[in-house]
Amino acid sequence: MNIHELERLFFDLYGNHDQAPRIYFAPGRVNLIGEHTDYNGGFVLPCALQYGTYFLIRERPDSLLKLASTNFKDKAEYDPSKGYIKQEGRWINYPLGIFKQFAGMNITIPGFDMLYSGDIPNSAGLSSSASIEMVTAFALASVLNVTSLEMTDLVNLSKRSENEFIGVNCGIMDMFAVGMGSADHAIFLNCHTLEYKRIPFILNGYKLIIANTNKQRGLADSKYNERVKECKEAVDAIAPHIPVNYLGELGFMQFFKIQDVIADDRIRRRARHVISENQRVLNAVTALYKNDILQFGALMNASHESLRDNYEVTGIELDTLVEESQKINGVIGSRMTGAGFGGCTVSIVKDDIVDKFIREVGDNYKQKTGLTASFYIAEVSDGPKEIIPETL
Ligand code: GLA
Repeated sequence: MNIHELERLFFDLYGNHDQAPRIYFAPGRVNLIGEHTDYNGGFVLPCALQYGTYFLIRERPDSLLKLASTNFKDKAEYDPSKGYIKQEGRWINYPLGIFKQFAGMNITIPGFDMLYSGDIPNSAGLSSSASIEMVTAFALASVLNVTSLEMTDLVNLSKRSENEFIGVNCGIMDMFAVGMGSADHAIFLNCHTLEYKRIPFILNGYKLIIANTNKQRGLADSKYNERVKECKEAVDAIAPHIPVNYLGELGFMQFFKIQDVIADDRIRRRARHVISENQRVLNAVTALYKNDILQFGALMNASHESLRDNYEVTGIELDTLVEESQKINGVIGSRMTGAGFGGCTVSIVKDDIVDKFIREVGDNYKQKTGLTASFYIAEVSDGPKEIIPETL
């Protein structure tokens, strides 16, 4: 749906054609490298995508929150005077969590008519939820004229909402990438200090291709929280020997000298992934600065191997997509991206073999798993913005 169709739908839903809604957009994100490092205080290298969430919002004369989405049938009329209470299994939790964060800062919130529309594939690991949260936070700060909140504050409050209201112990990467995204740049972020640098990411002669496994991700959240717990166990085993609070504090050599103090092999492998992945991010940034895309691709391949063998978050679908991608001449690197357990892969592919890549990987994947993959050519894009329809 384009913006004008969305506006029409908004008026169909809520009437009052004389008062136009304001329109906002926040992107989704793809992580290039640095997976399952964010909640360990490590490094990540994501970028924002051209796909994202459009959000139309208009003040109401009463205090009701009316929410609709073109992606979900479920509409809601919510009365916040009863408090912000999580609604089991409903998408509106993502906006409600953000409203709750604003209310918690003693910001007076009037009623709103709202319509969301996302073009990020759902449950693909491209942060459709962070995109909804960030577009809501950005739009609320804008329509309520809360100038004291900077983008990093919106990022932090979105993360708090995801952790406390939604109940997923995710790190800060998704919201940060969505909020701080910039066209043609990857974001090199230290997830502990939140220091970041935008690194030019321009693929001359190559495309960044996202492939969705289209596997249903049933238990993804609980397995994710299990990995968070396993990393804490690794820290507890190391802490009596080296005073550390999180795995990201440990250097590569430091960890390899001390790793045997982690008695449980599974926990040791989890930590090994985090430590080596952190180092891979640093090497990947160096490779980008040197314009060494081949080295960058090799690091992507190594990242997948570690996520498969040490962190065990891949599965047959992601592994098949990656294997079939890596087989093709002209593919520089390929790995799973996001939380794993399904979702997407990201690959760097030579311009002139993109069609062949999509055809061959798609066919072989279908033959091996019975599932049909979807492919997207990613454009590295900017963070949240207001859209002024007259300028379209
Ligand atoms: C999910 C989480 C992120 C991050 C990735 C794994 O996308 O939301 O915070 O932990 O998984 O790198």
